[in-house]
Amino acid sequence: MYTLDIDTERPYRVLIGTLLLEQCGEIVREASGGSRALIVTDTNVGALYAAPVRRSLEEAGYETSVHVFEAGEEHKRAETYLAILEDAARHEMTRGDVIVALGGGVVGDVAGFAAATYMRGCHFVQVPTSLLAMVDSSVGGKTAIDLACGKNLVGAFWQPDVVIADVGCLATLEPDQFIDGCGEVVKHAVIADEELFCELEKTPLTRELLLADLSRVAYLIARNIDIKRAVVSADEREAGVRKLLNFGHSIGHAVEACSDFRLGHGACVAIGMVAMATACVRTGLCEPSVRDRIRALAAAHGLPTSCDFTADELYAAALHDKKRSGDAIDLVLPEGIGTCRIANVPLLEFKQLIALGIETEGSVEA
Ligand SMILES: NC(=O)c1ccc[n+]([C@@H]2O[C@H](COP(=O)([O-])OP(=O)(O)OC[C@H]3O[C@@H](n4cnc5c(N)ncnc54)[C@H](O)[C@@H]3O)[C@@H](O)[C@H]2O)c1
Ligand SMILES: [Zn+2]
Repeated sequence: MYTLDIDTERPYRVLIGTLLLEQCGEIVREASGGSRALIVTDTNVGALYAAPVRRSLEEAGYETSVHVFEAGEEHKRAETYLAILEDAARHEMTRGDVIVALGGGVVGDVAGFAAATYMRGCHFVQVPTSLLAMVDSSVGGKTAIDLACGKNLVGAFWQPDVVIADVGCLATLEPDQFIDGCGEVVKHAVIADEELFCELEKTPLTRELLLADLSRVAYLIARNIDIKRAVVSADEREAGVRKLLNFGHSIGHAVEACSDFRLGHGACVAIGMVAMATACVRTGLCEPSVRDRIRALAAAHGLPTSCDFTADELYAAALHDKKRSGDAIDLVLPEGIGTCRIANVPLLEFKQLIALGIETEGSVEA
């Protein structure tokens, strides 16, 4: 088992390993205390894993209940959030009790927001079950729900007491969902860790690896969480270096919007990373080999590396990105593998970078 300590305002521990669901009761008892546990999960994950988690919590002395909502991003909404709060109140939970988020990023975000606000904040534990939730959303303390006008528009920073990542759960994840999570894995290696990048070049994080070598998967996930840990510890509220985590996201979010969210987030981030790297090559900010290696690593993980949308379409979509302030946008520019730089770029220049990034080989000098 790997143990990582996250050093934020409220420090907590991330455990990565196998057979952890069966032991979660004791872990939660030690980290959170309290006497009642509300397990929040979605229909897919609940059917697979709510029973062992509940059993373990009850063995550790918790009175438990399970709140299940319909799986899918379209349910990361106020109605779901309110239903969780009503359930918590119905079970007479206090601030000393614990909400356990069992699922992917959607469950973690909405259950986390409920925990952040129930009685002005109750105990919270993350049990991430998707690759994306393990390597990204369960660490960092961001919680949110969506509004009709956009994703993640309402939320709070709320750290869990502990994160329990049982990599055995990944076996039941849909192949597409697994691949999508790899978008953030490639991103982490590019922004902060050339050594990890090289390791992934040799042995990509694939479903085949999951079936062949679960301990290697646990190791790679731990390495990823360690990168996110280092970045968020340095910058809990996203004032500076945390923005590095947005590499590939400015264009990625635009691709997501242009595809009407049919393309997965990780796939769009992969497209965004390659586009940004290509733009950097064409403006002399990085060597072509940097872009080529990012593109090859994304492809080795089954991720797409280009899209058919025009620069105008992408730019129009990017203008809606909430990360933008005024007439400029913060972009993460890859100068090398493991070394990226944040630059505040005027929107007009951003538009040119998008065009340079997505134009096909030959139409612009590479
Ligand atoms: N809080 C943050 O810092 C942060 C960071 C990145 C993303 N997010 C959010 O995370 C969400 C995306 O997360 P996601 O990709 O995990 O989506 P998700 O939670 O919708 O999970 C994807 C699908 O996989 C299913 N699933 C999850 N684990 C499974 C398992 N072990 N076996 C079988 N099926 C399983 C889910 O039921 C769902 O259908 C978005 O809402 C995004 O905004 C948050
Ligand atoms: Zn992302």
